[in-house]
Amino acid sequence: MTSVEIRQQFLDFFASKQHKIVPSSPIVVKNDPTLLFTNAGMNQFKDYFLGNKKSEFSRIADTQKCLRVSGKHNDLEEVGVDTYHHTMFEMLGNWSFGDYFKAEAIAWSWELLTEIYKLDKNRLYVTVFEGDEKEGIPKDEEAYHEWKKWIPEDRILFGNKKDNFWEMGDTGPCGPCSEIHVDCRSEQERLNTPGKNLVNNDHPQVIEIWNNVFMQFNRSKGGSLVPLPAQHVDTGMGFERLVRVIQGKQSNYDTDVFTGTFNAIENITAKKYDGTDTKEAIAFRVIADHIRAIGFTIADGQLPANTGAGYVIRRILRRAVRYYYSYLDHKQPLLHELMPVLATQFETVFPELYQQIEFVSKVVREEEEAFLRTLDKGLKRIDDIVQATTNDIINGKSVFELFDTFGFPLDLTKLIAAEKNLQIDEAGFALEMQQQKNRSRAAATLDTEDWIVVNEEKEEGFVGYENNLIQTRVNKYRKISAKGKTQYQLVLATTPFYAESGGQIGDTGWLEFGDETVEVTNTKKENDTIVHFAK
Ligand code: GLY
Repeated sequence: MTSVEIRQQFLDFFASKQHKIVPSSPIVVKNDPTLLFTNAGMNQFKDYFLGNKKSEFSRIADTQKCLRVSGKHNDLEEVGVDTYHHTMFEMLGNWSFGDYFKAEAIAWSWELLTEIYKLDKNRLYVTVFEGDEKEGIPKDEEAYHEWKKWIPEDRILFGNKKDNFWEMGDTGPCGPCSEIHVDCRSEQERLNTPGKNLVNNDHPQVIEIWNNVFMQFNRSKGGSLVPLPAQHVDTGMGFERLVRVIQGKQSNYDTDVFTGTFNAIENITAKKYDGTDTKEAIAFRVIADHIRAIGFTIADGQLPANTGAGYVIRRILRRAVRYYYSYLDHKQPLLHELMPVLATQFETVFPELYQQIEFVSKVVREEEEAFLRTLDKGLKRIDDIVQATTNDIINGKSVFELFDTFGFPLDLTKLIAAEKNLQIDEAGFALEMQQQKNRSRAAATLDTEDWIVVNEEKEEGFVGYENNLIQTRVNKYRKISAKGKTQYQLVLATTPFYAESGGQIGDTGWLEFGDETVEVTNTKKENDTIVHFAK
């Protein structure tokens, strides 16, 4: 089965169970201050769970673009190093808004996996929530009872709050959950170690593929759990993992979700992906993963920037650039060349990238060029810093220099340092950053001294319609400092300088004091007084 067929079968299956199939919401979240990016399929339905809005449909299913690189769900460090975490991934999901609950959700997930996708029942394990005394939530006996109808009891495992109580973020809808794991190891390995010992133990071949959340609470800002007005189902299945399991591969990257991109990288760089753990193979995986996060977030309206969501994208992009530069020995922009391959692959699933391919490719190319301009110098500088580091930690000042001068995001420096068995002083970096912010704030503040009156003569005002050159006197002056520069403001008894007003630019010119000439850079009216700005 191809990945396209697998996705379609999921949607068809839930359509046959009276679910409305809806499009993915954007990966960039604009209207929820608790999130930067969509981190789960349920995000767009948050208000339905909380009872703030009523859904037109009580059952919905879709495939959702998700990004888990910040906040409560953050997988960035694992991406590329292992074979089953991603920055951007597709989450297949089905939802019930106050309609069906545990019995149907469990029965259907079993039916889809074992009858439609025909996964081997003997390789599946499920987990249910063991309860939590502190939160006042009992063991999920109901889910256990429902699973018993389908799977032998020794394959039903109880899990703690970390694995079996799903929360969207620090606040928001949440509830006990039941995960489905699959053991992809060889027969021999399975005989040696039972799969149940490896569930939720970071084993690359014993992986979670589907999570069924039973939404029952809202985590309030104060931390307490408030029961929701109704009970709902929220499920999330990692599409890339599912495809890998169905296609019988050892790695998500060996599936047809990624092979098109890998072929393109091989053609452009003349390197060959061998699926190992070498830096070169990791670089292939990082690039193939990261271009999806970059492409789809830009297509959804988030440009790379220096703050917020835009900086997350810039960090991901720079991480990818560093991998091809250092490990594929490719010194020109590469990512933008892969965008059309990605856009064509997803033309009918997430058409927004295809529709804006020229724009997205241009943005990516410009970003790559900008970082490549400083990357080489930055990498040399980090080598010098490493040489000069006598303990195991790169000091905050150096980390800040790499950030400020060479555009190295903190996590990129951390990654490079880790490759050299070093750590970085993150607290020292934060201090340097704060000091720089203070300096810019100070530089941006206008420091105005008191007027010094040198002449009591009454100001006669503007005479510039008649004369451009006059003899006059300074009535008063004062010093102003801003952004580290000093200027003087002068008020003359009479002046030929027209003051800025009604869209007209204030006059500039010179004042002569004996042999000394002073440049007037602008003239403005302040409280009816004509003020000249002089250097
Ligand atoms: N909302 C279910 C999940 O993300 O696992």
